[in-house]
Amino acid sequence: MSEKMTNKLKAIFSRTPMKMGLVALAAAVATILVLALYSSVSTRKAEARQSSFKIVDLDEKTIDPAQWGKNFPRQYDAYQRTSENYGTKYGGAGSEGAPLSKLKEDPRLTTIFDGYAFAIDFNQRRGHAYMLFDQAHTRRVTEKPQPGSCLHCHSSNTVAYRQAGLGQGAPGTLDEPFDSPDARKQLMAGFEAICKMPYKDAAKLADHPVACIDCHDPKNMALRVTKPGFLRGIDALARSSEPVPHLPSIEKWRKGDQKEAYEPNRDASRQELRSMVCGQCHVEYYCGPKVTLFFPWNKGLKVEQIEATYSDYKFPDGHRFFDWKHGKTGAEVLKAQHPEFEMWSQGIHARSGVSCADCHMPYTREGAIKISDHHVRSPLLNISRACQTCHRFPEAELKARVEAIQDRTRALMDRAEDAVVQLINDLEQAKKAGADETKLQPIYEFQRKAQWRLDFVNAENSMGFHAPQEAARILAEAIDYGRQGQLALRDVKVVAKK
Ligand code: HEC
Ligand code: HEC
Ligand code: HEC
Ligand code: HEC
Ligand code: HEC
Repeated sequence: MSEKMTNKLKAIFSRTPMKMGLVALAAAVATILVLALYSSVSTRKAEARQSSFKIVDLDEKTIDPAQWGKNFPRQYDAYQRTSENYGTKYGGAGSEGAPLSKLKEDPRLTTIFDGYAFAIDFNQRRGHAYMLFDQAHTRRVTEKPQPGSCLHCHSSNTVAYRQAGLGQGAPGTLDEPFDSPDARKQLMAGFEAICKMPYKDAAKLADHPVACIDCHDPKNMALRVTKPGFLRGIDALARSSEPVPHLPSIEKWRKGDQKEAYEPNRDASRQELRSMVCGQCHVEYYCGPKVTLFFPWNKGLKVEQIEATYSDYKFPDGHRFFDWKHGKTGAEVLKAQHPEFEMWSQGIHARSGVSCADCHMPYTREGAIKISDHHVRSPLLNISRACQTCHRFPEAELKARVEAIQDRTRALMDRAEDAVVQLINDLEQAKKAGADETKLQPIYEFQRKAQWRLDFVNAENSMGFHAPQEAARILAEAIDYGRQGQLALRDVKVVAKK
């Protein structure tokens, strides 16, 4: 269009004596016209892209997602739909009212978790809308004392932490931007304080499941991370020597002087943040009465690196770290929880730069507008948008590929569970037969190693998909340690009988 217009102007003025000057003037006018048009089109395009109505002024105190929803109704509507129950072959919690019980589906878990709260109540996960409710109602909470740190990943607590921090004497006010030094002091002081509170008291400070403010800057909607456990954990990972090629901003930070902490909201790329926002919660963690919640990433994200971090870690009383003493054997064992971020990190998708959001929050078109699907759920309910953007295979083929990986993982996991249960049974018998406790010590270590590996894959929620080969490696080690334990036990029994 601009060319046509300039040509016309040229034709009219080309014969006049002041040709040169007029051409310049015409060009200037045309440029202004074109720029004006362009700027109006691009403003409208940007408006359409954001579909923001700016009805509410959002700030660092706006917790209620409904308020954010006034400006961003599409994202809010989808976010609310995380209350819809579903079941895929291995994902979701079933479409009934209550989530399916993992213990009823697989009674071996009751033996494996004997003596721990997970043996009384352990369900399939479901949508984000339920995270506060399901936590408050699990028998793990209603029948056992739990710490306030449980809420770190089950509620929107960005503001609650800062408020509590101010109460602890941290400087500044709630109006300061989240990434300011004062706000960070507030956040961390409040986090420490709320972690130590009994669950019931801390729960009074939580009104919403994960909310917009936990992943977005209210000023400009940029992605950000806000959970203290993640901020500390990712800095610990950055300070380790474990290669993290899928997190290039960490590799870059390591080349600097490392005086300041690695700070995802400053250092990470948008694509990295599209996974990190999920890594705020979908991770292995320790949250018990004795210490503040932490992510055990000091040596790296792999199963044996996390195990080594735990084994080096000492409780305040000097004792080596463990989650619980097994009810039947007395072994000091570990419980793994949803290491999605860690397993994804070992897979080909992470290595290829594919984020959690690419599969679990794929772009969706609503009229002329492209938005991120805030109805976070299984990508298998959504293969065309979640996978076919990159993989040109029919839906049924992609689903079959996922299920082939999952079926293989499940079959290997069955063998690993059998190995761990049989080791537990043998240990129990040996104890009853009066075996020497000191001789049993090394065999408790086999139980610890085997159980930790089995659980790392079992508690991970993709049934192997996020990193198929890594899942198989870990399960193979679980089977091996379980059987090694049984072999070693044969020698102990002989000694015990003498
Ligand atoms: C390449 C695509 C892809 C990426 C990237 C990905 N996932 Fe998944 N995820 C899947 C698939 C496929 C499943 C299996 C879903 C099923 O069984 O229904 C799954 C399962 C899950 C589940 C259980 C879902 C359910 O319905 O029960 C969770 C939770 C999850 N992923 C979180 C994450 C997190 C967190 C990340 C990033 C750290 C991530 N995923 C990265 C594809 C992906
Ligand atoms: C504040 C912590 C938190 C954050 C942040 C978070 N999740 Fe979750 N997520 C949870 C909890 C807790 C559950 C289980 C809720 C329940 O079972 O009641 C869950 C459940 C899920 C499920 C299962 C859904 C279903 O209906 O079965 C998927 C999939 C999932 N999350 C993916 C993600 C992805 C992808 C991200 C990042 C975009 C993310 N989550 C960010 C805590 C979080
Ligand atoms: C580091 C984040 C984090 C912390 C801390 C955390 N959770 Fe969760 N929780 C999750 C995620 C993510 C899920 C969904 C994935 C899953 O179920 O494996 C979940 C799922 C659950 C569920 C639903 C499935 C089930 O296990 O029955 C319950 C109940 C639950 N958590 C209770 C607790 C309790 C009690 C605590 C404190 C001891 C706690 N959570 C601490 C992240 C966390
Ligand atoms: C668990 C983290 C998480 C939560 C909670 C969350 N979002 Fe998002 N949101 C994302 C991600 C990831 C993107 C993609 C951003 C990107 O690629 O730059 C996004 C993008 C957006 C965008 C940009 C346009 C688009 O759709 O891509 C808007 C607007 C938005 N979210 C609004 C909201 C609102 C409103 C809420 C609360 C009702 C909310 N978000 C809750 C993770 C989250
Ligand atoms: C943003 C692009 C992208 C998206 C989205 C994506 N993938 Fe991939 N996927 C890749 C890349 C890249 C590879 C590595 C292989 C390659 O380079 O061709 C890969 C590999 C795979 C593999 C081989 C896995 C292995 O361990 O060898 C499977 C299976 C797969 N994808 C399935 C899926 C499914 C199912 C989805 C949707 C839930 C999905 N992918 C979404 C890019 C993507």
